[in-house]
Amino acid sequence: MPIDVLLGLQWGDEGKGKVVDFIAPSYQVVARFQGGPNAGHTLVMNGEKHVLHQIPSGIFRPDTVNVIGNGVVLDPAVFYKEVVALELKGVEVKQNLFLSNRTQIIVPTHKLLDRASEASKGDQKIGSTLKGIGPSYQDKYARQGLRLGDILSRDFEGRYQELRNKHLELLEKGGWDSDELADMESLFFESLEKIRRFQIVNTEYLLNDCLSKGQSILAEGAQGAMLDIDFGSYPFVTSSSTTAAGACTGLGIAPRHIRKVIGITKAYCTRVGSGPFPTELHEETGEKIRQAGHEFGSTTGRPRRTGWLDLPALRFANMVNGTTEMLIMKGDVLDCFDDIKVCTAYHDNNGNVSSELPYDMVRSEVHPVYHMLEGWPSGLHEANSWDTLPDSFRRYCKFIEDQTGVPIRIVSTGPGREQTIER
Ligand code: GDP
Ligand code: IMO
Ligand code: MG
Repeated sequence: MPIDVLLGLQWGDEGKGKVVDFIAPSYQVVARFQGGPNAGHTLVMNGEKHVLHQIPSGIFRPDTVNVIGNGVVLDPAVFYKEVVALELKGVEVKQNLFLSNRTQIIVPTHKLLDRASEASKGDQKIGSTLKGIGPSYQDKYARQGLRLGDILSRDFEGRYQELRNKHLELLEKGGWDSDELADMESLFFESLEKIRRFQIVNTEYLLNDCLSKGQSILAEGAQGAMLDIDFGSYPFVTSSSTTAAGACTGLGIAPRHIRKVIGITKAYCTRVGSGPFPTELHEETGEKIRQAGHEFGSTTGRPRRTGWLDLPALRFANMVNGTTEMLIMKGDVLDCFDDIKVCTAYHDNNGNVSSELPYDMVRSEVHPVYHMLEGWPSGLHEANSWDTLPDSFRRYCKFIEDQTGVPIRIVSTGPGREQTIER
């Protein structure tokens, strides 16, 4: 009757979607616990690529129940578009998906406010996906948000108007336009009409009943530890708790039910959007990784910034999450390098070295201290078991394990479901 939590240990896009889909058959339920359509989780099956934003990555497994938890923020239009696309591919969605009636709704004006907020920050902008994430979590914590269960009540429209008018007042005060609102609203209400026919329930009862019956649950995180509202590179973060504790509050499950915390990391780092990135590579080397790894955002298409693996950040992420095992993704991307660097500590401008992540990464001087390892010029794609992986790649994994104290359970050697090696 356990729950395992799967989450990103970096700045998102670690490959969570691929892994959730791969390990889903070991669970009866896959549940998203935070974030919203800012997420873009990619699954590749039989050479075909699917990107999920709102729907859990267990949806392609017909025997898996999928849950959108109370900690998520849901954009009805994005959600319904995703449903239609999945149904066209023959995927059963309605039967296999439950939505929490406590899930917060992203309303059209949240997206306008997101845009206005970013524009007003100028070159200090967060680099948000502009999906309305920040403003909808703001309304949740201001205790004035609308929840999915509310769409079933008669006074929903009135409550919607009240919230939207508050938002419009803010937009007007700032001189921001809201010309697109009418179109956005008609899509919003059309989508809500469809969503009414979905299974909107008390998912905390559903999930705890599953646990009582001895079923197991996989909690699917979005974003990553370094984008966490408390522990990420604040203020260049998202607006939710992306760490393991977020699974409890985002699903209504007690901490004592958590068995494993499965942390996902790439063999290098990427970040999309603004903010500190100590190991960032500019020019040729960074571009080489971007091209080889197809590092362009799954949600916005923006080029992702790239850099070497950052162990102080990884150790910090493992500490706040209590990671019990790690999965290393995209080692194949680095096969174009003879030597590979790993950041083991940071130094400041006076040469003081620290292996800790500073609380304010923006204002601190964090320069990487590198350790050099031998590369694996080829052989990762051909490997089909731990023993057939190149020796130098296994040494790389051993180095990461020694430096973090967390065992590596799976390595991924390509985007496909089958390109996955369990130890
Ligand atoms: P998520 O947000 O954590 O689910 O990750 P994304 O889907 O945004 O980004 C990960 C990208 O890497 C996707 O395009 C995946 O198809 C791809 N991918 C996942 N694992 C591997 C791997 O081991 N090797 C390569 N080359 N690509 C991978
Ligand atoms: P997945 O689940 C990578 C980043 C944005 C921006 C910051 C705040 O696919 O790993 P927001 O839209 O939340 O206001 O953006 O967080 N960001 C992500 N980066 N992967 C994601 O999700 C992300 N979700 C948000 O680029 O820097
Ligand atoms: Mg992604």
